[in-house]
Amino acid sequence: MKKELHAVAIERLDSRGRGHGSALAGDDTPRPVIVTGAYPGDTVDVRVRRRKAGAFLGEIEAFHDAGVPRQDPFCRHFADCGGCTIQDISYEAQCDLKHAMVQAAFAEAGFSGQAPLTLPAIPAVLPAPRGTRYRNKLEFSFGAQRWLSETEIAEADAIGDRRGLGFHVSGRFDRVLDLQECHLQPEPSESVRRFMRDLAERRGYSFYDAREHHGLLRLLIVRTSLLEQTMVIVMFGEDQPEAIREVMTALAAEFPDISSLCFVVNTSRNDSLFPHDVQVWRGDPWITEASGPNRLRIRPKAFYQTNPEQAVRLYAAAVDLVGLSPDDRVFDLYSGIGSIALFVARSVASVVGIESVPDAVTAARENATLNGVSNVTFEEGEVETVLPAVAERHGAPDVVILDPPRAGLHPAARRAVRDLDAQRILYISCNPRTQASDIAELSDRYEVTAMQPVDMFPQTRHVENIAVLRRRAR
Ligand SMILES: C[S@@+](CC[C@H](N)C(=O)[O-])C[C@H]1O[C@@H](n2cnc3c(N)ncnc32)[C@H](O)[C@@H]1O
Repeated sequence: MKKELHAVAIERLDSRGRGHGSALAGDDTPRPVIVTGAYPGDTVDVRVRRRKAGAFLGEIEAFHDAGVPRQDPFCRHFADCGGCTIQDISYEAQCDLKHAMVQAAFAEAGFSGQAPLTLPAIPAVLPAPRGTRYRNKLEFSFGAQRWLSETEIAEADAIGDRRGLGFHVSGRFDRVLDLQECHLQPEPSESVRRFMRDLAERRGYSFYDAREHHGLLRLLIVRTSLLEQTMVIVMFGEDQPEAIREVMTALAAEFPDISSLCFVVNTSRNDSLFPHDVQVWRGDPWITEASGPNRLRIRPKAFYQTNPEQAVRLYAAAVDLVGLSPDDRVFDLYSGIGSIALFVARSVASVVGIESVPDAVTAARENATLNGVSNVTFEEGEVETVLPAVAERHGAPDVVILDPPRAGLHPAARRAVRDLDAQRILYISCNPRTQASDIAELSDRYEVTAMQPVDMFPQTRHVENIAVLRRRAR
């Protein structure tokens, strides 16, 4: 296999934001080349990592021409951290990239412009109000084996501490990048992470070994809110009550303003918080967030949009596009802590939310009461299982709001949504690829009438997309 391809001209982007060009293979036939980090107009030498379905997959080895100007990334971890992978292009170029990704996602799902697979024009990406410190949640892993940079490996004798606290390096469950800085979350995120790193070093606590499955410190979850409330959850990989008490006492003393300080003991092989009891060390089992006109309680296992400022703009744009009226009966599927349901409730007749995580349903019900909203009901369960029965109980809706996880709709959920026969569907998604294929499946019954990509995740190759579907005339 060729290890390096010379002067590949990049012609287009795919739905993952990767550049596509072509090069001659060993038998002199042209083959697709897919290059991470390359953009249309770039001409690059490519280091080939693997071949898949006849295509070369690789990364940029050297530039001949840059179609999109590159800039110095502001984070020292750019080269190693899998997080902010597009810090090296301007914010404007980032938004253009995301627009192209949405367009590509729908093209790849078959939206060719031939009926029924037609689309409206896709407007420019709605930009985020801030490019850094926009996230309200980060999950840092303690790792017994940290990621070593190429320089460190070259100077192998000098490596002392092999432990790390930070993010898993892309594709490596057992390697953690030891963060010195991260620009994604407001304080006290950085201070808490640094304090925990120092504390562990001073007291000699062990870090979790993902291969051997032992180690005291396992995860550090920090959630912040626009109301400057903070939740910190420490996950311990070993049930050592004395050490746990020491860690939590030290954290509580150093950060008296953390309003929800919690811990979890998880000795299972999986990092997930869901199966375990979250114990409150100090404060409340929630923090409160500002979301447009509402105040929302967020509980430890509940999802909330990770860019809270932009979430409100996302909801406002979505509601504007779908158009709601006081008679509308709405279903909000994958309703989380009730953020969308409560955002729309005052403009419609009723809202029924469905959500599978009990902590989120509890928060959603509390949030309805906290905000004095009485025309909403939250049902607990998986959409694919409970939707037909919920529709039976509450009657068919006029509008269905969908905001599923990245995987998109379960086939049974898609069928159940189709059977609702609602007049309008508002589909919000953090993964336009699955969104596009779900919408393609519904295209015989629904026409896409409006779209709006929204940037919720600056510096990353992620994009949120709103699509409005209207039932076709019969
Ligand atoms: C992308 S979040 C959207 C949450 C909410 N709409 C918001 O804006 O914050 C997806 C939500 O779906 C929930 N979920 C995941 N799978 C589900 C399923 N099969 N049925 C119901 N809810 C599910 C998750 O717990 C999460 O709260």
